[in-house]
Amino acid sequence: MKKILLLCLFVLSINTSSKAVEGMWIPSLIDLFHSDMKTYGLKLSPQQIYSTNQSSLKDAIVQFNGGCTAEIVSDEGLLLTNHHCGFSAIQHHSSLEKDYLKNGYWAKNKSEELVCSWMYVTFVKEIRDVSKAVFEGSTQLKDPNARKQQIQKNIAALEATENKGSIKAKIKPFNMGNQYYMLITEDFNDIRLVGTPPSAIGKYGGDTDNWVWPRHTGDFSVFRIYANNNNQPAKHDASNQAFKPAHFLPISLKPKKEGDFTMVYGFPGSTDQHFASDKLQFYMEKERPARIEMRQTSLDIITPAMNKSDAIRIKYASKQARIANAWKKWIGQIGGLNELHALDKKLAWEKNYTDKAKQETAWSKYAKALASLNQLQQDNSDYEFARSMFIEYFYMGPEFLRYAFNFGQLANNYESLKAEGKLEKEIEKLKASIDPFFKNYDQAIDQQIYKALSPMYIRQVASNLLPENFRNNWNKMGDKIFAKSMLMQPDKIKAFLAKFSGKSYKKLQKDPALQLANSLYQAYVKNISKPYGQFVAQQNYWMQLYVEGIMKMFPDKKLWADANSTMRISYGRLEGSAPVDGMQYLHYTTIDGLMQKYDPDNPDFELTDKFIELYKNKDFGDYLQDGELWVCFTASNHTTGGNSGSPVIDAEGNLMGINFDRSWESTMSDFMFDESRCRNIAIDSRYMLWVIEKYGEAKHLIDEMKIVR
Ligand code: ARG
Ligand code: GLU
Repeated sequence: MKKILLLCLFVLSINTSSKAVEGMWIPSLIDLFHSDMKTYGLKLSPQQIYSTNQSSLKDAIVQFNGGCTAEIVSDEGLLLTNHHCGFSAIQHHSSLEKDYLKNGYWAKNKSEELVCSWMYVTFVKEIRDVSKAVFEGSTQLKDPNARKQQIQKNIAALEATENKGSIKAKIKPFNMGNQYYMLITEDFNDIRLVGTPPSAIGKYGGDTDNWVWPRHTGDFSVFRIYANNNNQPAKHDASNQAFKPAHFLPISLKPKKEGDFTMVYGFPGSTDQHFASDKLQFYMEKERPARIEMRQTSLDIITPAMNKSDAIRIKYASKQARIANAWKKWIGQIGGLNELHALDKKLAWEKNYTDKAKQETAWSKYAKALASLNQLQQDNSDYEFARSMFIEYFYMGPEFLRYAFNFGQLANNYESLKAEGKLEKEIEKLKASIDPFFKNYDQAIDQQIYKALSPMYIRQVASNLLPENFRNNWNKMGDKIFAKSMLMQPDKIKAFLAKFSGKSYKKLQKDPALQLANSLYQAYVKNISKPYGQFVAQQNYWMQLYVEGIMKMFPDKKLWADANSTMRISYGRLEGSAPVDGMQYLHYTTIDGLMQKYDPDNPDFELTDKFIELYKNKDFGDYLQDGELWVCFTASNHTTGGNSGSPVIDAEGNLMGINFDRSWESTMSDFMFDESRCRNIAIDSRYMLWVIEKYGEAKHLIDEMKIVR
């Protein structure tokens, strides 16, 4: 068990100056943090990292389908991301006959690459500080609403001047509205799946190992960007060509060692470093535990069913992964925050902040902002809680609710759809939604989820916020829906839509599934989302002031703007960690450790015969370091959801690995960062290439890449 286990009392070999760096930095501000990156070992110039005049690293990095990150690794638009980021595409192309989830897939040439018509990637052309122009004419306004309106007006005008063809401009608030940046981007929509390892590699360790170190997941998949003959974005077309990028990342096969510089360049989704103490406490003690309980209940139904049947496994793979992923992260976060005494730390910081605000009369507004944030939270926690429960129930719970809800437009707005000439389109959209829904649907599972979650939802949410009929009769209503609703019977609803005529919408209005979905949604809008919206507006107002207070009263604090799905850089070192007293995590894992976890009786740790064969033959090509094949490594980069698929880049700008996770003890970094514990997890570039070459027998893909030894 040598390498994979935590080594007790292992003597630290890194020098003590080696520290994780908190923060996700805005690439266009590279000059502010470049010199610090150099002290960590960076050898690139600022212009090589971010530039609008010459090609730079940023041109090789894209946001992948609005969520994850991906990077270009050849001059033919070859794209790497995580297996779990490509998951829905892999599932989409999978069937019992062509089970790419189970067996993997490798296109032998471009004609075999699989079209993913709904996918897109987003390039960042420029990130521009537009704060001054956004605030123009607003600062002198006393009324917060008038100020907000002026800001919105300015934003709309500024965006309009930059939007041109495929180039989109979007202005987003940073640092809680104390700054605004314009993101100038361009989407490409012809994305094709090139290759993926089987889940036994790409999801090895499954939910057991998710969010945990030591890790042995080969979490990668391969796509390609296509463009028209002018290398411009275009819808999928057989005549499109492989995209020629301004820059692509060479792949490093160099030996790695602890202390090496690492940088993660990607699109972190969101972080909440500025939560006031009452909100943090609410999340830790009430909101997250209730959400965890709801998801646990769904998973207890879905997971065993998937393990029993291949058909169910294929249908529910994506959904299960989505529910399980946050479920487990939240458990880790609460544990980590408690370990860190996060609440005490937050309270101590707030005392410090409030004391400081007493030093100057102009600062008293900052103390007021903080006090207001905490008071507001206390007054509105019930609404925030009810909203979270609605999300868990309506959007993560029984699927028929969301599916039925889509028919609401046609049922309730028939006349106006007709008057506006939108009727045909709406009917076509609904027709097209039926098969994809039922492809991945199992009524027995959904019914069980409905029966288990409905009483929980009712128990959690104050009774005056829910529809009375649902509270009293949910069980009977469910039985009727599953037995009788025409929406639940694909043939019936298809025939109904095919013959749709003037009065048909009345029949739709009477459908029990649609009626239930509608009444739940209406109750949510009226009772929950309205007061919640007012709460958020007030919260935003005080938050802006509170963060302004940090900037004004603590000018030496290295303040970074919370993640907001925009491009960021975090930097640090390849290093292990000492997350728990008496324990030391090594900074890498190997294929030997992977084999030690192999368990044919546990779906999370299955391997294919081919993999075992390759391992036995010790056919590792030139991917070894000191006789070992590294599988994953950890580094001290501050990352979060959305950073999945992000390149981990070395001091010279080469790809060392692909980020895909954080360790259990560091998931709390979304709220509070801890240098000694917070580590991101990446798949090693050499393992990935080994899988492509030896397992996938797709050496032609490696020949496309630029390899650095
Ligand atoms: N925890 C990682 C992330 O948040 C990986 C998730 C996919 N893996 C899984 N076993 N569900 O996306
Ligand atoms: N797996 C996450 C993602 O999909 C990244 C892990 C994290 O949250 O750090 O983005």
